[in-house]
Amino acid sequence: MTQVIRRKSKTEPAPPTTLFLFGAHGDLVKRLLMPALYNLKRDGLLGDGLRIIGVDHNAISDEGFANKLEDFIRNEAAAKVGKGDQALDPQVWARLAKGISYVQGDFLDDSTYQALGAKIAASGTGNAVFYLATAPRFFTEVVRRLGASGLLAESPESFRRVVIEKPFGSDLQTAEALNSCLLKVMTEKQIYRIDHYLGKETVQNILVSRFSNSLFEAFWNNHYIDHVQITAAETVGVETRGSFYEHTGALRDMVPNHLFQLLAMVAMEPPAAFGADAVRGEKAKVVGAIRPWSIEEARANSVRGQYTAGEVDGKPMPGYRQEEKVAPDSNTETYVALKVMIDNWRWVGVPFYLRTGKRMSVRDTEIVICFKPAPYAQFRDTEVDELEPTYLRIQIQPNEGMWFDLLAKRPGQALKMDNIELGFAYKDFFEMQPSTGYETLIYDCLTGDQTLFQRADNIENGWRAVQPFLDAWQQDSTLQNYAAGENGPQAAEELLARDGRVWHGLG
Ligand code: BG6
Repeated sequence: MTQVIRRKSKTEPAPPTTLFLFGAHGDLVKRLLMPALYNLKRDGLLGDGLRIIGVDHNAISDEGFANKLEDFIRNEAAAKVGKGDQALDPQVWARLAKGISYVQGDFLDDSTYQALGAKIAASGTGNAVFYLATAPRFFTEVVRRLGASGLLAESPESFRRVVIEKPFGSDLQTAEALNSCLLKVMTEKQIYRIDHYLGKETVQNILVSRFSNSLFEAFWNNHYIDHVQITAAETVGVETRGSFYEHTGALRDMVPNHLFQLLAMVAMEPPAAFGADAVRGEKAKVVGAIRPWSIEEARANSVRGQYTAGEVDGKPMPGYRQEEKVAPDSNTETYVALKVMIDNWRWVGVPFYLRTGKRMSVRDTEIVICFKPAPYAQFRDTEVDELEPTYLRIQIQPNEGMWFDLLAKRPGQALKMDNIELGFAYKDFFEMQPSTGYETLIYDCLTGDQTLFQRADNIENGWRAVQPFLDAWQQDSTLQNYAAGENGPQAAEELLARDGRVWHGLG
């Protein structure tokens, strides 16, 4: 039986809005945002009153811009919008393209903002969303100018919203400075800080499954859970993003945002409602409860790694230092493993081990909840010497689902046990539509639902927890190597072995 949670109907088309895409020629717009807008249009979730306006410095006509997007989706991103010859329905695209236009302008030039104002005035609606799909160095520059030119002023009839992509700051201080710049020209209700992990169905499902099946709550605490592992393993390297990655590294790129979002979903207290304030309040609280390590503790509880040449899926891969736009003596980490503790009643004493890396053996984003062994005195005088640990594995991607690992008696006269799995794979139960993960986020922003966006305190709490690692690495930035195709350096194994634990196998 299908049950529908009526938080708010998500079947109505979003209200008429002018959506400005800053950084219109960038990868994000063509690879993800436009395919997502197309999918929303196909599903009837965007009305005809949506105007999409690209903003960037290169010259191109309105028609040229729309055609360029169409070509790209057709040739490079078809799998995100449909299956086989179902990809990109020309009629749906034509209806979307009717609203597409372009403003050529320098982000640092005030006249660009006058042109945007004129577009809003001509659009027939006062509603506007400014989506900053730009390099982060433009965030404050654009937002200040939007504020100064009056474009962020709302009226009772119309909203003005700003979407900020990651990375949101590069440490605690820069994140605080960015938040304070935003809050000088608009209110928190107008700010949509994106973390695309929250657009993933499987991430949203953690909350739904946890809080709609009462059995979970009975063991979801330090009495039954020994520790939690959160892994985001990638097989890709830095691709064309060497210059960005060189000064970002795995810790900043993945931990305070994506991995902490997963941690928050697992560890937060039940929110009083599935509304933005309640959910975001609980998430901010739990991320704020991550114990701030001293510099020495942060050093001892972290591993920095970098990949050297190796093989992934039987194909030879260069080392990180040989990648495009990467310094030959680069000291940037492409892998990080961390241990963090959450200081609250539910989780005291339960370590959370986090790891993420590029060029690992498989693509696998998963959360593994490891249970304490049952008291096993009753198995004395049998052939069972030791009980294997049992797990709940929540796989975010690519094989979305949940697997419970239980111990069961192997048939036969002797008492022997095996680990068996009870599983739920999304693909067996639901038809998964091709999607980019941005559909929900864009729709929610257009309809004013901030639940899946990060609040200022959540972002700052994340950086506060990460800052000791950054500080420790400033003093000692020793890198541990791992060959492409391996699952991180040996030191990451030792981080757990020291506590008598092992990483769950990937894949
Ligand atoms: C991005 C990071 O935010 O997330 C990338 O900048 C990373 O380096 C990507 O590859 C991972 O996202 P996903 O959805 O592929 O897990």
